Amino acid sequence: MSKIRLDDRLSAVAGLVRTGKRVADIGTDHGYLVVYLVENGKCPSGIAADLRKGPLENARQTVIQQGLSEKIELILSDGLEKIPEDACDDIVIAGMGGNLIAEILEKAPWVKDERIHIIAQPMTHAEVLRQWFIDNSFEISCEKTATDGRRYYCIISAEYTGVKEEHNASYIYTGEIKPESDTDIKYLQKILTALTKKYDALMSANKEDNDNIRIIIDEIRTLLGA
Ligand SMILES: C[S@@+](CC[C@H](N)C(=O)[O-])C[C@H]1O[C@@H](n2cnc3c(N)ncnc32)[C@H](O)[C@@H]1O
Repeated sequence: MSKIRLDDRLSAVAGLVRTGKRVADIGTDHGYLVVYLVENGKCPSGIAADLRKGPLENARQTVIQQGLSEKIELILSDGLEKIPEDACDDIVIAGMGGNLIAEILEKAPWVKDERIHIIAQPMTHAEVLRQWFIDNSFEISCEKTATDGRRYYCIISAEYTGVKEEHNASYIYTGEIKPESDTDIKYLQKILTALTKKYDALMSANKEDNDNIRIIIDEIRTLLGA
């Protein structure tokens, strides 16, 4: 049986999981990520969890096919509800909207623990998730970007510090992403385009509370050197 291969998005997610740590993959679906991490020895063990029976069954088949039933536990769970608190170090929540990821974290106060790292890959509304991390005294320690050639994704690694950090207005849109690679630049440009469209729409509707969005646009332009 050949090993599981990941696409660029899930490879970037896997890259932010810490070597030697126990991983829980929430919303695992096919189970590729957690199987990849355990199969390649990056994680000693893992949890594959999903809300729905069908995806969890897909993950079970992947785990069995790769001969990893001893090392990967399958759990039917709404978010982190059924995940034992001391069973994982790194929690991955990938491929869901930023609002849903924030809701899942909100319902599990035990993730506010310096021992735990969250690796999140929001499909939409990354700014809602970054705001949740800031409001809940997490530090975003690292972010990566990835693309499938069509869409651009960010992957956020965050951990609880107990300290509420101050950031400039654009931080919830850019996080720790700096224009260092083509993918980073494209990700930031897409955000800038979306915010500019929103600003223009507000202007043409004669809405007056546009100052904050103008500031955010200017900060992102400066970041991009535009
Ligand atoms: C689009 S798939 C993403 C699969 C994989 N994580 C990835 O990034 O490729 C989303 C998965 O999240 C699961 N899901 C949605 N809401 C969930 C929740 N509240 N708790 C656990 N899993 C959830 C869905 O059943 C589905 O299998």
